[in-house]
Amino acid sequence: MDIERLFVTQDPGEYGEEQRGVWNALCTRQNEALRGRACSQFYEGLEKIGLDFQSVPLLDDINTRIAPITGWTARAVPGYVDSRYFFQCLRQRIYPTTVGLRSAQSMDYLEEPDIFHDVYGHVALMADKTYGELLRKLGDVINLTISDQDVLELTRLFWFTIEFGLIREAGDVRILGSGLLSSPGEAIHCLSEGVEQRPFQLAEVIAQPFRIDIFQDVLFIAESLEQLLDATGVLIYQIQERNGIRWPRSA
Ligand SMILES: [Fe+2]
Repeated sequence: MDIERLFVTQDPGEYGEEQRGVWNALCTRQNEALRGRACSQFYEGLEKIGLDFQSVPLLDDINTRIAPITGWTARAVPGYVDSRYFFQCLRQRIYPTTVGLRSAQSMDYLEEPDIFHDVYGHVALMADKTYGELLRKLGDVINLTISDQDVLELTRLFWFTIEFGLIREAGDVRILGSGLLSSPGEAIHCLSEGVEQRPFQLAEVIAQPFRIDIFQDVLFIAESLEQLLDATGVLIYQIQERNGIRWPRSA
């Protein structure tokens, strides 16, 4: 499928006073919940993309700041994108970004991503060069997947790093994953004793099941973004070996 068919045009007219209020409340609340808990790349990313807590961001504005730094662009989608197409977008440094915003009645829980989760949680980090490269490389894996097992392992690696990863920074454990960065409950829970924090090991991560409907009870701590880049390279090698792919089909 041509991924161009996934994208829509973001309409600034959809964000009125109510949406601006929701956006401001989400940003303010989450900033408070994260205080000192997120990784440095996240805080730097918020600065780099110039995220304004007063108004719902327009992706074109963000792209003028982020694309010159890492080549990433956020492009509008109406909602959930099938994982195979989603990873194809990542290969091209395009982040499918939901442009709808939750209502004031659904501040705490959403089954699907919205623009708060996608921009505050995901896009800010894409201003970091190593993170941007990690995300692109994860997209590369999809081009090698043949079996359901391949896709499952890629999905678990994505889940326990990009969505729910922890990372060590100057001896402390910090939040890396977007699902943790954009949820006040998870931001507190993930660094509490209610979570089993394990050192990141690729073999363990790709064998670890997860549920999307509960607070996470097992998380993995990466030592660095470079470690995750290396691990993604190992997964690429393993999938190539398993499928008898002699010549890399990925970039
Ligand atoms: Fe996400």
